[in-house]
Amino acid sequence: MPGKEEMFKELKKLLGDRFRVDLADRYCYSTDSSIYRALPDGVAIPVNTEEVVAIVKLANEHKVPLVPRGAGTGLCGGAVPFKGGVVVDLQRMDRIKEIRPENLYCVVEPGVVNDELNRALKPSGFVFPTSPGSGEAATIGGMVALNASGMRAIKYGATRDYVLGMEVVLPTGEVCRCGTRTLKNSSGYQLERLMVGSEGTLGIITEITLRIVIMPKSRAVALVTFDHMEKAGQTVSNIIARPIIPSSMELMDKTCIEVANKGADAGFPEVAALLIIECDGEIEGVRREMKLVEEVCRKSGCIGFEATEDASLYERWHAGRQSILPALGRLKPELKIVSLADDMAIPIANIAKAVMAFDEIAKRNKVIIASYGHASDGNLHTKMLIDPENPDDWKRAEKATKEVYDAVLGYHGTVTGEHGVGVSKAPYMMIERRSTIKAMKAIKQALDPNNIMNPGKMFDWDKPGIMAPLRYPPEVK
Ligand code: MLT
Ligand code: ZN
Repeated sequence: MPGKEEMFKELKKLLGDRFRVDLADRYCYSTDSSIYRALPDGVAIPVNTEEVVAIVKLANEHKVPLVPRGAGTGLCGGAVPFKGGVVVDLQRMDRIKEIRPENLYCVVEPGVVNDELNRALKPSGFVFPTSPGSGEAATIGGMVALNASGMRAIKYGATRDYVLGMEVVLPTGEVCRCGTRTLKNSSGYQLERLMVGSEGTLGIITEITLRIVIMPKSRAVALVTFDHMEKAGQTVSNIIARPIIPSSMELMDKTCIEVANKGADAGFPEVAALLIIECDGEIEGVRREMKLVEEVCRKSGCIGFEATEDASLYERWHAGRQSILPALGRLKPELKIVSLADDMAIPIANIAKAVMAFDEIAKRNKVIIASYGHASDGNLHTKMLIDPENPDDWKRAEKATKEVYDAVLGYHGTVTGEHGVGVSKAPYMMIERRSTIKAMKAIKQALDPNNIMNPGKMFDWDKPGIMAPLRYPPEVK
């Protein structure tokens, strides 16, 4: 990076102590919530669009990579600076600029945290409903960059369905206002949509206009238990085909039930599989819907059905579901949870078959795979548990990952439903999207001719597999 020193002098002048190059800071920004680690050369913390423009112009002039970053909750390595350069931390651009219920939108900076936005929206009776699992930390900018979503996508959709417009600093430093503040627009290319899911490779998002919806007035939740995974999966499809669209249907396998009970005292019956089904809306409608859900569940062979409108009980179940990710890491002392093939989405009716296929793959490769997720929209989280300091475990995990993706693509699925591509999904995304890679590369080349924005990610990943510098053990090498 020939111009790096010169650029760093300019950044120091521009940002003062909000530009950092000491090892401690660089170490803090060397990983996200993925399995990877790579040190950046510097960290920049802008507070407004003008500063972002200046940073991008300098990087483009000196051909230094930039890696935009929100809260670092991404699980695929999208914010890990494998090619060095400067991590741009956008968390201090955290103003909620407008809340306009009468126009059904709000305007936010990228560093606003999902749950904080919803706290601010609450008095107006509106909500931004995408419900990611990491909502208490995840920033809106990161959610837009990955097209994040969560358990309520079946009824409320994903982040992309709420993005009306945005301000983005393109890789040349030009400020581009895409989209509108209107609910409809047929005014040319929908560039705001192109930016959704671009993972920081096409520019830095500095403002987002989001559609908002009325907060549901009431909810009821049912805990439904099964003696076989197949029946749980079939029940999900039977409910949708009835037709009923609940606000969420979360699936958990036996291992996940066990860890949620141990880790969060969830009080789940220890069965082969369970569903947590939520209906929301006006109370009469919710009750009517829940009755129909019960009817379908019983006809589909559930062994237990308990519905409640008691918030403290369903909060306990919800906390049990939310505890899976951290609790899995405590199943056995030597095993750590690694996000490899962990976010596929498949057509809903194939859910049970897929989970059973993953179990077979796990047995064959001698790894533990725990399956849970948003069954109602076909999105599964299949976490692998391995000893990350044992190279042989990684070999078996890599092989299992490939077999899982082969199965997913065989079911006409996608390698990532909501976590994004980063690096851990990159080679498989290139297989899945084979016919569009050329067009994606052409767009990237046109907007970012010097390839400064988050290089080496998605289709720019140039290794055969998913192994890159790991964050185990934690020392810097
Ligand atoms: C979730 O559903 O809780 C999140 O997507 C994170 C995960 O468990 O992988
Ligand atoms: Zn999820």
